[in-house]
Amino acid sequence: MDKFLIEQSLNLKGDIYIEGAKNSCLPILAACILSNGNVIIKRVPFLSDINIMCNLLKEIGITVNKDLINKTLNINTKNIFNKQVSYELVKKIRASFLLAGPLLARFGKVSIQMPGGCAIGVRPIDLHLKGFKALGAEIIQEHGVIEINAKNGLIGTEIYLDFPSVGATENIIMASVLAKGETIVSNCATEPEIVDLIEFLNKMGAKIEGGGTETIKIKGVDSLNNCTHTIIPDRIEAGTFLVLGAATKGEINIFNINCEHLKAITSKLKEINVDIEEKDNLIKVYSKNIFKNVDIKTMPYPGFPTDMQPQFMSLMSIVNGTSIINETIFENRFMHASELSLMGANIKVEGSSAIISGVEKITGSKVKATDLRAGAALIIAGLCAEGVTEISDIYHIERGYYNIEEKLKNIGAKIKKIRV
Ligand code: EPZ
Repeated sequence: MDKFLIEQSLNLKGDIYIEGAKNSCLPILAACILSNGNVIIKRVPFLSDINIMCNLLKEIGITVNKDLINKTLNINTKNIFNKQVSYELVKKIRASFLLAGPLLARFGKVSIQMPGGCAIGVRPIDLHLKGFKALGAEIIQEHGVIEINAKNGLIGTEIYLDFPSVGATENIIMASVLAKGETIVSNCATEPEIVDLIEFLNKMGAKIEGGGTETIKIKGVDSLNNCTHTIIPDRIEAGTFLVLGAATKGEINIFNINCEHLKAITSKLKEINVDIEEKDNLIKVYSKNIFKNVDIKTMPYPGFPTDMQPQFMSLMSIVNGTSIINETIFENRFMHASELSLMGANIKVEGSSAIISGVEKITGSKVKATDLRAGAALIIAGLCAEGVTEISDIYHIERGYYNIEEKLKNIGAKIKKIRV
């Protein structure tokens, strides 16, 4: 298994170019199932999760041509057919369940294995299924497989989400675009990735209003056609490098971003006394200041994103004073706390809160990436820690950060990948 060896690397300097958003590209790939023609997707982050989703599409007859140089996918669905995709791929990424909505919309039925939970939580799909049922589908769950069947087709309706689930909002939108009549989804997620999916679907001929608000209206249409779409920038990759630049007291220019999507992150960094300069699609982070401890509560967008919680925990671990992080989205998203403690961080976890008492210094140690963002947090800690940090299970990190080793080296980080 590969590992990262990271030596203390402070005052990192240079330019970072952000990729397209993984969490926008995944639902958009699933939505290609709804197209009757050719789809060209640009600014694709060719991460392992994206490659798995491409392989899932190929299993149902969709042609997927990758142009790695131009970070583009050329997709054609003329030979599409409906079948249960292989469990080996489904269990690798939870986002595989995003195939359910478009397959149900296109074929009127779908059979797919339960995606299962992951390190950060049980990850139920009850809200997805509530939406499908409301649209007229019958659901049978047996032996880990979900059979969803809309014998009389899908009929537009009103759906209220008990929680603004990102995935459930995406799946219900995709199930509704070919339904008869209008669907209104209330209390839905407002993340930028939802807005991007809606823009993509509308380009193909869908009639969806309210993207980015808590109420989305979908008027069913007969079919969807060709389109070309560029994925929005990855706000979590950008946020990760912002925190990394602050923690290492560096001076980093981060290009290809949308400042609006980063408001919660940049506001929190300014509260900590980090210097941030925002210009069009560029953010500059630099800071020689003394940082202040802050409290964080993760919330659905536009609140502070749960996907940035681990990275901030690393930063707050070496800021004088006590910070409290309240994780309200996932029930088990503090596993990085024990890994950071191995490096000398002083963190107590009590239920959904972590109490971080800043320490003078942390030191390099052997630690393990437990999930994607926890891995990013350990990279940040490793860059700040005295000595050398060895991070194992780095496949988690490579799921969400394209070419991270090269990007870090380009700003002066002492990092190398070793195969053991
Ligand atoms: C998406 O996951 C993201 N993944 C996650 O990013 C992100 O952390 C999450 O949204 C929250 O922002 C992708 O977009 C591929 P949810 P998703 O449904 O859709 C509960 C990363 O690091 N819930 O909004 O699975 C659920 O248990 C990943 O890139 C139900 O109870 O998130 C959780 O507590 C990690 N029933 C909360 O909602 C449901 O039917 C948020 O889940 C669905 C969800």
